[in-house]
Amino acid sequence: MQLNDQEQAVLDGSEGSARAHAMSLLVKYGIALGAEKLVDTNSVCGGVVGSLPGRRDVLPPDKRDNMDAVYSLLNLDSDVTMQIPPVKANTYKLIEAMDPDHFEVQGVAESTQRLVKDNAKFCARIGVQTCNTCAPYLVGNVPIFGEHCAWMESSAVIYINSVIGARSNVEGAHSAAASSLVGKIPYWGYHVPENRLGNYLIEVDCSIETNLDWGLLGYWVGEMVHENVPVLRGIKGIPNTNDLKHFGAAAASSGGVEMYHLAGITPEAPTLDAAFGSRRPTETIHFGLAERRAAYDYFNTGKDLNVDFIVLGCPHSSLEQIRQVAALLEGKKLSPNTALWMFTPNALKTVATKMGYTEIFEQAGAFIMSDSCAALSKVAPAGAKVAATNSCKQAHYLPATLGLETWLGTTEQCVQAAITGRWEEGLN
Ligand code: F3S
Repeated sequence: MQLNDQEQAVLDGSEGSARAHAMSLLVKYGIALGAEKLVDTNSVCGGVVGSLPGRRDVLPPDKRDNMDAVYSLLNLDSDVTMQIPPVKANTYKLIEAMDPDHFEVQGVAESTQRLVKDNAKFCARIGVQTCNTCAPYLVGNVPIFGEHCAWMESSAVIYINSVIGARSNVEGAHSAAASSLVGKIPYWGYHVPENRLGNYLIEVDCSIETNLDWGLLGYWVGEMVHENVPVLRGIKGIPNTNDLKHFGAAAASSGGVEMYHLAGITPEAPTLDAAFGSRRPTETIHFGLAERRAAYDYFNTGKDLNVDFIVLGCPHSSLEQIRQVAALLEGKKLSPNTALWMFTPNALKTVATKMGYTEIFEQAGAFIMSDSCAALSKVAPAGAKVAATNSCKQAHYLPATLGLETWLGTTEQCVQAAITGRWEEGLN
């Protein structure tokens, strides 16, 4: 790999041991992937993993409260404790282990609360923004077209690659942490223009309207194309951020898709030809009502109709989605046996409270939560057995991470189930 003088100097220790170590991690990572160079990045999203229960147990007991030691080992893979300097790249933190305002409702242990507080203080010290969300693009981290980024979180990476035209691979905790310290990332994968061209054509033969429709389409596309770059033709109208959040999260969950094009809609696909460039589609596949039904049935067969946990906000919800649910909940009460938790970035939770939405939720017996999510923070009401959600990604993970049977439906079906405690099946 070719390093410029500045990169070589950092590798040689001109800016201290932590940045030298971070640079060496990126160089090894880049060489393993065949990257010929590093590129500058000023947009990183990552995790500070020391707050996850049990993760610090790999450190000697006397180092578990030393955040430099925790970060050196868990985020930078170094047994040697380094003094971690401030980040160089603008860095946002992904979700945490709990919502600090609702840890009791979430049933989070006191020991985890302490770890989360340590994490927050450490992030403030090194300059990592604690927006604690899987949807940083909703709260100020919006890269520009063509910008090289180093983001973790598959639903966010597919969004910025495809909808914005920024450039990122799905990074891991180590590579994101290293990038934040030196402001570099290896030039490979979706940083390289040729790799962003489409190689599968998806003909969409039915109308795609609700967030659920977009999720079902995404989940099916991911199953079909795995880690390729699909180009979708036949979408009527212009989807919004919420639609594409659900589409991308689903495609990344079922198949590992990191980049797609909507012909005539997304920025690198002004035409079908532009989306494929020098490549030709290896396959053409059709998505119609039968495929939509098959994707829906995959999630919705043979489950208990008595639901006790409704999960909304995966990926984290926008204010518009909170407003929609507040309107459905206003003046109603949840079934006494059912909980409804809607997840959003902490910045939007603050606005939701100012706008009166939080009060509407709480009068109904529901919660707007932040900083966390059911499936990945592994939080659920005590004793919950059967969940319902409007998100294919959450439905994909809840059975595995929390052992919950999970129904999938529209936002309206989910809110109705929260009120009655019963799931009403049906795909319109
Ligand atoms: Fe976000 Fe959790 Fe879904 S991290 S994308 S709400 S699984």
